[in-house]
Amino acid sequence: MEQLLKQIGQHKKEINASTAATKDELEAFRIKYLGTRGLVKTIMGEMKNVATENKREAGQLLNEFKIFTEAKFEELKSTLGGDAVEEAGTIDYTLPGDELPLGTRHPISIVQNKIMSIFQTLGFAVAEGPEIEDDWHNFSALNLPENHPARDMQDTFYLNENPAWLLRTHTSSVQIREMQKGKLPLRIICPGRVYRNETISARAHCFFNQVEGLYIAENVSFADLKQTLYFFVQEMFGQDVKVRFRPSYFPFTEPSAEMDISCLICGGSGCSVCKKTGWVEILGCGMVHPKVLDNCGIDSNKYTGFAFGMGVERIAMLNYQIKDLRLFSENDTRFLSQFKAAF
Ligand code: PHE
Repeated sequence: MEQLLKQIGQHKKEINASTAATKDELEAFRIKYLGTRGLVKTIMGEMKNVATENKREAGQLLNEFKIFTEAKFEELKSTLGGDAVEEAGTIDYTLPGDELPLGTRHPISIVQNKIMSIFQTLGFAVAEGPEIEDDWHNFSALNLPENHPARDMQDTFYLNENPAWLLRTHTSSVQIREMQKGKLPLRIICPGRVYRNETISARAHCFFNQVEGLYIAENVSFADLKQTLYFFVQEMFGQDVKVRFRPSYFPFTEPSAEMDISCLICGGSGCSVCKKTGWVEILGCGMVHPKVLDNCGIDSNKYTGFAFGMGVERIAMLNYQIKDLRLFSENDTRFLSQFKAAF
Protein backbone atom coordinates (compact mmCIF):
# COMPACT_ATOMS: atom_id res chain seq x y z
CA MET A 1 0.00 0.00 0.00
CA GLU A 2 2.89 2.26 0.93
CA GLN A 3 4.48 1.30 -2.33
CA LEU A 4 1.37 2.12 -4.36
CA LEU A 5 1.01 5.50 -2.71
CA LYS A 6 4.58 6.39 -3.53
CA GLN A 7 4.22 5.23 -7.13
CA ILE A 8 1.06 7.23 -7.70
CA GLY A 9 2.65 10.28 -6.16
CA GLN A 10 5.54 10.13 -8.61
CA HIS A 11 3.31 9.60 -11.62
CA LYS A 12 1.13 12.51 -10.62
CA LYS A 13 4.16 14.80 -10.58
CA GLU A 14 5.20 13.62 -14.00
CA ILE A 15 1.70 13.99 -15.41
CA ASN A 16 1.31 17.41 -13.93
CA ALA A 17 4.47 18.58 -15.70
CA SER A 18 3.35 17.21 -19.06
CA THR A 19 2.75 19.57 -21.94
CA ALA A 20 1.30 19.16 -25.42
CA ALA A 21 2.15 21.75 -28.01
CA THR A 22 0.74 19.80 -30.92
CA LYS A 23 -2.02 17.33 -31.61
CA ASP A 24 0.56 14.58 -31.93
CA GLU A 25 1.96 15.30 -28.49
CA LEU A 26 -1.55 15.23 -27.03
CA GLU A 27 -2.18 11.86 -28.61
CA ALA A 28 1.14 10.58 -27.27
CA PHE A 29 0.02 11.65 -23.77
CA ARG A 30 -3.28 9.85 -24.17
CA ILE A 31 -1.63 6.62 -25.31
CA LYS A 32 0.99 6.74 -22.59
CA TYR A 33 -1.39 7.30 -19.68
CA LEU A 34 -4.95 6.55 -20.78
CA GLY A 35 -4.52 4.02 -23.58
CA THR A 36 -5.49 0.33 -23.24
CA ARG A 37 -1.90 -0.44 -22.30
CA GLY A 38 -1.42 2.91 -20.64
CA LEU A 39 -0.18 3.62 -17.15
CA VAL A 40 -3.61 4.04 -15.52
CA LYS A 41 -4.74 0.63 -16.73
CA THR A 42 -1.46 -0.96 -15.64
CA ILE A 43 -1.67 0.43 -12.13
CA MET A 44 -5.31 -0.63 -11.90
CA GLY A 45 -4.00 -4.14 -12.51
CA GLU A 46 -1.97 -3.82 -9.28
CA MET A 47 -5.24 -4.05 -7.31
CA LYS A 48 -5.06 -7.80 -7.23
CA ASN A 49 -1.84 -7.64 -5.23
CA VAL A 50 -3.32 -5.37 -2.59
CA ALA A 51 -4.26 -6.97 0.71
CA THR A 52 -8.00 -7.34 1.21
CA GLU A 53 -8.20 -4.92 4.13
CA ASN A 54 -6.63 -2.21 1.98
CA LYS A 55 -8.63 -2.81 -1.19
CA ARG A 56 -11.24 -0.14 -0.44
CA GLU A 57 -8.69 2.55 0.20
CA ALA A 58 -6.55 1.52 -2.77
CA GLY A 59 -9.61 1.51 -5.04
CA GLN A 60 -10.41 5.07 -4.07
CA LEU A 61 -6.82 6.10 -4.59
CA LEU A 62 -6.62 4.57 -8.04
CA ASN A 63 -9.92 6.02 -9.07
CA GLU A 64 -8.76 9.41 -8.01
CA PHE A 65 -5.56 8.92 -10.00
CA LYS A 66 -7.58 8.03 -13.07
CA ILE A 67 -9.76 11.13 -12.72
CA PHE A 68 -6.66 13.24 -12.16
CA THR A 69 -5.05 11.95 -15.36
CA GLU A 70 -8.22 12.39 -17.40
CA ALA A 71 -8.56 15.95 -16.15
CA LYS A 72 -5.00 16.70 -17.20
CA PHE A 73 -5.75 15.29 -20.61
CA GLU A 74 -8.80 17.54 -20.96
CA GLU A 75 -6.75 20.49 -19.84
CA LEU A 76 -4.04 19.86 -22.43
CA LYS A 77 -6.68 19.34 -25.07
CA SER A 78 -8.46 22.58 -24.33
CA THR A 79 -5.23 24.61 -24.31
CA LEU A 80 -4.36 23.24 -27.69
CA GLY A 81 -7.84 23.64 -29.17
CA GLY A 82 -8.19 27.01 -27.50
CA ASP A 83 -5.11 28.29 -29.24
CA ALA A 84 -6.38 27.26 -32.61
CA VAL A 85 -9.73 28.94 -32.02
CA GLU A 86 -8.08 32.10 -30.84
CA GLU A 87 -5.81 32.20 -33.89
CA ALA A 88 -8.70 31.71 -36.29
CA GLY A 89 -10.52 34.53 -34.58
CA THR A 90 -7.78 37.04 -35.35
CA ILE A 91 -7.54 36.24 -39.06
CA ASP A 92 -9.49 38.57 -41.32
CA TYR A 93 -10.22 36.50 -44.37
CA THR A 94 -11.52 39.52 -46.28
CA LEU A 95 -8.07 41.18 -46.34
CA PRO A 96 -6.16 40.97 -49.64
CA GLY A 97 -3.33 38.43 -49.58
CA ASP A 98 0.35 39.29 -49.56
CA GLU A 99 1.42 40.00 -53.09
CA LEU A 100 4.06 37.63 -54.41
CA PRO A 101 6.52 39.48 -56.63
CA LEU A 102 6.34 37.69 -59.96
CA GLY A 103 9.09 37.91 -62.53
CA THR A 104 8.46 39.68 -65.82
CA ARG A 105 9.65 38.85 -69.28
CA HIS A 106 12.81 40.68 -70.31
CA PRO A 107 12.15 43.45 -72.88
CA ILE A 108 14.68 41.84 -75.22
CA SER A 109 12.77 38.56 -75.03
CA ILE A 110 9.49 40.38 -75.66
CA VAL A 111 10.83 42.14 -78.75
CA GLN A 112 12.66 39.07 -79.98
CA ASN A 113 9.52 36.96 -79.65
CA LYS A 114 7.53 39.56 -81.56
CA ILE A 115 10.09 39.68 -84.38
CA MET A 116 10.06 35.88 -84.55
CA SER A 117 6.28 35.62 -84.57
CA ILE A 118 6.05 38.07 -87.50
CA PHE A 119 8.42 36.00 -89.61
CA GLN A 120 6.77 32.79 -88.47
CA THR A 121 3.50 33.99 -90.02
CA LEU A 122 5.44 34.14 -93.32
CA GLY A 123 6.55 30.54 -92.91
CA PHE A 124 10.05 31.08 -91.50
CA ALA A 125 11.18 28.37 -89.09
CA VAL A 126 13.39 29.11 -86.08
CA ALA A 127 16.95 27.75 -86.19
CA GLU A 128 19.52 27.98 -83.42
CA GLY A 129 23.21 27.22 -83.18
CA PRO A 130 26.23 27.38 -80.88
CA GLU A 131 27.59 30.65 -79.46
CA ILE A 132 31.13 29.30 -79.57
CA GLU A 133 31.96 28.89 -83.23
CA ASP A 134 34.87 28.02 -85.45
CA ASP A 135 36.38 30.44 -87.90
CA TRP A 136 34.92 28.68 -90.90
CA HIS A 137 31.24 28.98 -89.89
CA ASN A 138 31.58 32.54 -88.63
CA PHE A 139 33.83 33.90 -91.39
CA SER A 140 35.32 31.77 -94.15
CA ALA A 141 32.11 30.13 -95.31
CA LEU A 142 30.58 33.60 -95.44
CA ASN A 143 33.09 34.70 -98.02
CA LEU A 144 35.45 36.32 -95.52
CA PRO A 145 38.71 34.48 -96.14
CA GLU A 146 41.58 34.90 -93.68
CA ASN A 147 43.24 38.30 -93.86
CA HIS A 148 40.17 39.70 -95.58
CA PRO A 149 39.90 43.33 -94.45
CA ALA A 150 36.16 42.93 -93.88
CA ARG A 151 36.95 40.82 -90.80
CA ASP A 152 37.87 44.06 -89.11
CA MET A 153 34.24 45.16 -89.41
CA GLN A 154 33.49 42.92 -86.45
CA ASP A 155 35.96 42.86 -83.58
CA THR A 156 36.11 39.25 -82.57
CA PHE A 157 36.65 37.55 -79.22
CA TYR A 158 38.91 34.53 -79.68
CA LEU A 159 39.17 31.83 -77.03
CA ASN A 160 42.48 31.99 -75.17
CA GLU A 161 42.77 28.24 -74.87
CA ASN A 162 42.32 27.66 -78.57
CA PRO A 163 42.22 30.62 -80.96
CA ALA A 164 40.60 28.40 -83.58
CA TRP A 165 37.44 28.97 -81.56
CA LEU A 166 35.67 32.27 -81.22
CA LEU A 167 32.45 33.77 -79.88
CA ARG A 168 30.18 34.19 -82.87
CA THR A 169 29.97 37.78 -84.08
CA HIS A 170 26.63 37.21 -85.81
CA THR A 171 24.07 34.46 -86.18
CA SER A 172 24.95 34.13 -89.88
CA SER A 173 26.99 31.17 -88.66
CA VAL A 174 23.72 29.39 -87.88
CA GLN A 175 22.57 30.03 -91.45
CA ILE A 176 25.73 28.31 -92.72
CA ARG A 177 24.98 25.30 -90.54
CA GLU A 178 21.41 25.13 -91.85
CA MET A 179 22.50 25.50 -95.50
CA GLN A 180 24.97 22.64 -95.04
CA LYS A 181 22.09 20.34 -94.13
CA GLY A 182 21.07 20.69 -97.79
CA LYS A 183 17.30 20.75 -97.30
CA LEU A 184 15.87 23.19 -99.82
CA PRO A 185 13.96 25.42 -100.08
CA LEU A 186 15.16 26.92 -96.82
CA ARG A 187 13.30 29.59 -94.90
CA ILE A 188 14.70 30.27 -91.45
CA ILE A 189 15.23 32.92 -88.82
CA CYS A 190 18.15 32.67 -86.41
CA PRO A 191 17.73 34.43 -83.08
CA GLY A 192 20.52 34.52 -80.54
CA ARG A 193 23.25 36.27 -78.63
CA VAL A 194 26.36 37.49 -80.43
CA TYR A 195 29.63 38.99 -79.20
CA ARG A 196 31.88 41.79 -80.39
CA ASN A 197 34.87 43.33 -78.72
CA GLU A 198 33.51 46.83 -78.33
CA THR A 199 33.83 49.35 -75.54
CA ILE A 200 30.63 49.36 -73.54
CA SER A 201 28.68 52.60 -73.85
CA ALA A 202 25.09 53.79 -74.12
CA ARG A 203 25.09 52.77 -77.79
CA ALA A 204 27.40 49.75 -77.92
CA HIS A 205 27.94 46.56 -75.94
CA CYS A 206 30.24 43.58 -76.12
CA PHE A 207 27.24 41.27 -76.44
CA PHE A 208 23.83 41.77 -77.92
CA ASN A 209 21.08 39.80 -79.64
CA GLN A 210 20.30 39.35 -83.28
CA VAL A 211 17.60 37.91 -85.44
CA GLU A 212 18.92 37.01 -88.85
CA GLY A 213 16.83 35.56 -91.65
CA LEU A 214 17.50 33.47 -94.74
CA TYR A 215 15.35 32.36 -97.66
CA ILE A 216 16.76 30.13 -100.36
CA ALA A 217 14.74 28.68 -103.20
CA GLU A 218 14.56 28.87 -106.99
CA ASN A 219 13.95 32.36 -108.38
CA VAL A 220 14.14 34.31 -105.13
CA SER A 221 14.59 37.98 -106.03
CA PHE A 222 15.47 41.27 -104.40
CA ALA A 223 11.79 42.19 -104.74
CA ASP A 224 10.96 39.24 -102.45
CA LEU A 225 13.45 40.56 -99.94
CA LYS A 226 11.97 44.06 -100.00
CA GLN A 227 8.41 42.82 -99.71
CA THR A 228 9.29 40.57 -96.78
CA LEU A 229 10.98 43.41 -94.92
CA TYR A 230 8.16 45.89 -95.71
CA PHE A 231 5.74 43.44 -94.18
CA PHE A 232 7.95 43.04 -91.14
CA VAL A 233 8.26 46.80 -90.54
CA GLN A 234 4.53 47.36 -90.81
CA GLU A 235 3.74 44.53 -88.42
CA MET A 236 6.45 45.64 -86.00
CA PHE A 237 6.08 49.41 -86.03
CA GLY A 238 2.71 50.13 -87.68
CA GLN A 239 1.46 51.20 -91.10
CA ASP A 240 2.72 54.78 -90.97
CA VAL A 241 6.41 54.07 -90.67
CA LYS A 242 8.42 54.92 -93.78
CA VAL A 243 11.13 52.63 -95.11
CA ARG A 244 14.17 53.20 -97.31
CA PHE A 245 16.97 51.00 -98.61
CA ARG A 246 20.54 52.22 -98.98
CA PRO A 247 23.23 50.38 -100.92
CA SER A 248 25.81 48.84 -98.61
CA TYR A 249 28.49 46.19 -98.44
CA PHE A 250 28.62 42.77 -96.81
CA PRO A 251 31.00 40.08 -98.08
CA PHE A 252 28.25 37.45 -97.89
CA THR A 253 25.59 39.29 -99.90
CA GLU A 254 25.60 40.85 -103.36
CA PRO A 255 23.97 43.25 -103.85
CA SER A 256 23.84 44.40 -100.23
CA ALA A 257 21.70 47.04 -98.57
CA GLU A 258 20.90 48.59 -95.25
CA MET A 259 17.33 49.39 -94.33
CA ASP A 260 16.29 52.55 -92.52
CA ILE A 261 12.94 53.41 -91.02
CA SER A 262 11.64 56.89 -90.28
CA CYS A 263 12.63 57.84 -86.73
CA LEU A 264 9.99 56.70 -84.25
CA ILE A 265 11.17 59.16 -81.62
CA CYS A 266 10.76 62.42 -83.59
CA GLY A 267 8.56 61.12 -86.40
CA GLY A 268 11.18 62.11 -88.98
CA SER A 269 11.69 65.75 -88.08
CA GLY A 270 15.16 65.12 -86.63
CA CYS A 271 16.40 64.40 -83.09
CA SER A 272 19.44 63.06 -81.26
CA VAL A 273 18.46 59.43 -81.79
CA CYS A 274 18.36 59.78 -85.59
CA LYS A 275 21.24 62.27 -85.49
CA LYS A 276 18.95 64.89 -87.02
CA THR A 277 18.47 62.85 -90.20
CA GLY A 278 14.94 61.61 -89.53
CA TRP A 279 16.04 58.03 -90.34
CA VAL A 280 17.43 55.17 -88.28
CA GLU A 281 19.14 52.08 -89.63
CA ILE A 282 17.57 48.86 -88.38
CA LEU A 283 19.06 46.06 -90.47
CA GLY A 284 21.48 44.83 -93.08
CA CYS A 285 20.38 42.64 -95.96
CA GLY A 286 21.07 41.46 -99.47
CA MET A 287 21.05 38.60 -101.95
CA VAL A 288 23.13 35.66 -100.71
CA HIS A 289 26.52 35.70 -102.47
CA PRO A 290 26.85 32.73 -104.87
CA LYS A 291 30.15 31.85 -103.22
CA VAL A 292 28.37 31.36 -99.89
CA LEU A 293 25.91 28.98 -101.52
CA ASP A 294 28.77 27.09 -103.17
CA ASN A 295 30.65 26.90 -99.88
CA CYS A 296 27.66 25.14 -98.36
CA GLY A 297 27.18 22.75 -101.25
CA ILE A 298 24.17 24.51 -102.77
CA ASP A 299 24.02 24.86 -106.55
CA SER A 300 24.25 28.63 -107.09
CA ASN A 301 23.14 28.27 -110.71
CA LYS A 302 19.85 26.81 -109.62
CA TYR A 303 19.17 28.55 -106.33
CA THR A 304 19.15 32.14 -105.18
CA GLY A 305 18.35 33.56 -101.78
CA PHE A 306 18.13 36.61 -99.62
CA ALA A 307 19.40 37.22 -96.11
CA PHE A 308 18.95 39.91 -93.51
CA GLY A 309 20.12 40.56 -89.97
CA MET A 310 19.01 42.93 -87.25
CA GLY A 311 19.97 43.80 -83.71
CA VAL A 312 17.18 43.15 -81.24
CA GLU A 313 18.43 45.82 -78.80
CA ARG A 314 18.25 48.48 -81.49
CA ILE A 315 14.64 47.57 -82.28
CA ALA A 316 13.75 47.46 -78.57
CA MET A 317 15.32 50.89 -78.00
CA LEU A 318 13.23 52.36 -80.79
CA ASN A 319 10.11 50.54 -79.69
CA TYR A 320 10.30 51.62 -76.05
CA GLN A 321 12.29 54.84 -76.55
CA ILE A 322 15.18 53.62 -74.41
CA LYS A 323 18.32 55.71 -74.77
CA ASP A 324 20.89 53.51 -72.99
CA LEU A 325 21.73 50.01 -74.17
CA ARG A 326 23.32 49.11 -70.85
CA LEU A 327 19.93 48.99 -69.12
CA PHE A 328 19.20 45.72 -70.91
CA SER A 329 22.02 43.86 -69.19
CA GLU A 330 22.08 45.42 -65.72
CA ASN A 331 19.17 43.35 -64.38
CA ASP A 332 17.65 46.20 -62.41
CA THR A 333 14.12 45.01 -61.71
CA ARG A 334 12.86 48.61 -61.49
CA PHE A 335 13.64 48.81 -65.19
CA LEU A 336 12.73 45.26 -66.17
CA SER A 337 9.35 45.14 -64.45
CA GLN A 338 8.00 47.97 -66.60
CA PHE A 339 7.54 45.81 -69.67
CA LYS A 340 4.37 43.89 -70.24
CA ALA A 341 4.65 40.85 -72.41
CA ALA A 342 2.13 40.22 -75.15
CA PHE A 343 4.49 37.58 -76.49
N1 PHE B 1 25.55 39.48 -90.39
C1 PHE B 1 25.40 40.91 -90.56
C2 PHE B 1 25.82 41.58 -89.24
O1 PHE B 1 25.88 40.94 -88.24
C3 PHE B 1 23.99 41.29 -90.86
C4 PHE B 1 23.53 40.80 -92.19
C5 PHE B 1 22.91 39.58 -92.30
C6 PHE B 1 23.74 41.55 -93.32
C7 PHE B 1 22.50 39.13 -93.53
C8 PHE B 1 23.31 41.12 -94.55
C9 PHE B 1 22.71 39.92 -94.64
O2 PHE B 1 26.12 42.74 -89.23
